Amino acid sequence: PRIVCVAGARPNYMKIKPVMDALERRGAEVVLVHTGQHYDPAMNDVFFADLGIRPPDRFLGVGSGSHAEQTGRVMTAFEPLVAELSPDLVVVVGDINSTLACALVTAKAGPLLAHVEAGLRSRDWSMPEEVNRVATDRVSDYLLAPSPDAAENLRAEGYRDDQIHLVGNVMIDTLLANLERARASDVLGRYGLSRGGYGLVTLHRPANVDDPGVLAGLLKALGEIAGRCPLVLPVHPRAAGRLADIGVPGGVRLVEPAGYLDFIALQDSARVVLTDSGGVQEETTALGVPCVTLRDNTERPITVEEGTNVLAGRDPERIVATVHRVLDAPPAPRRPALWDGRASERIADVLLGGGTASTHPRPT
Ligand code: UD1
Ligand code: UDP
Repeated sequence: PRIVCVAGARPNYMKIKPVMDALERRGAEVVLVHTGQHYDPAMNDVFFADLGIRPPDRFLGVGSGSHAEQTGRVMTAFEPLVAELSPDLVVVVGDINSTLACALVTAKAGPLLAHVEAGLRSRDWSMPEEVNRVATDRVSDYLLAPSPDAAENLRAEGYRDDQIHLVGNVMIDTLLANLERARASDVLGRYGLSRGGYGLVTLHRPANVDDPGVLAGLLKALGEIAGRCPLVLPVHPRAAGRLADIGVPGGVRLVEPAGYLDFIALQDSARVVLTDSGGVQEETTALGVPCVTLRDNTERPITVEEGTNVLAGRDPERIVATVHRVLDAPPAPRRPALWDGRASERIADVLLGGGTASTHPRPT
């Protein structure tokens, strides 16, 4: 079969790579389509190099824009490509605008659609990603869930059991496959850091970085935490301008966005990670590193229930208190079932095993 695999932004690359490999190992013809949602070398090229992803077969070059502009541009560029390639199946990952745009096009164009990371729900409709997740799942034929809570969400929304496949977490496939190489990174030396001697921070959710007042509050909390544990913050381009305007407190060091191997190394050696990222909540759980999530909710509750994640919200005082508590008594690590490095093999089993994709029932 011919399978189009879609990627568009930083958190897509480490999810699509193992899926592509597993499909190709079983003889599928994979066409990698890059939408161009992220394009800076530090947000894009470094991941292709670090993860050994081949250059995209097709590049849509959509770039940045409002939600409607970006989603619309991806749709307009992807529609003729699907007509030209006439794939049997399209695979989308995650919850970004490119995911939804390609899902909508596919659902109307005819190929089957598989969503990797289906069923995650924050139940927070102010997050653009929640809209993307729910709408993508609704038009998908194959709902590939990373965890039992995600499968349960889908069942509760009325999806049929034969659409829901609990396969595990592909992001952890990539993490485990690259952990040794990441541990060989010299990033700690380059930044003058020692293992266990710093905290790692990422911030890029619109709710945290778009409003200067909210961001200033978070920075105040980081300044207090840095008094106990110095912090390093690889800056997402979305937050760069505002961080520079507000200025960061002493003890908080801004650095460039890190490449994949460097960032895994930075997480692995951190005393604590403070983040609003989805993927980082999962990677810290897999690595057993304490994680404090600077959000009121998470679409990844398994990282709290079984992993090392604690939700701290966005109130500065509560964040500081939570970090002190976590530093005093780090949570015990436990890696969720099926976060075992073999999720993409199970996905290939579902998509290519027993029977052809075309016999799969469509959504009702
Ligand atoms: C997007 C995803 C988000 C994901 C994040 C991962 C959506 C709605 N959001 O958010 O779910 O967690 O990627 O990092 O799809 N920019 C650059 N260079 C780049 C890319 C972006 O400078 O290579 C800047 C531009 O000013 C752009 C802004 O960042 O307007 C936001 O980029 P965009 O892709 O729209 O959303 P993200 O915040 O990156
Ligand atoms: N990541 C990275 N460098 C960074 C920040 C994150 O390589 O400076 C990686 C991280 O290890 C994870 C992924 O990017 O694999 C998460 O992407 P991001 O936080 O941008 O998006 P989200 O997961 O929130 O959608």
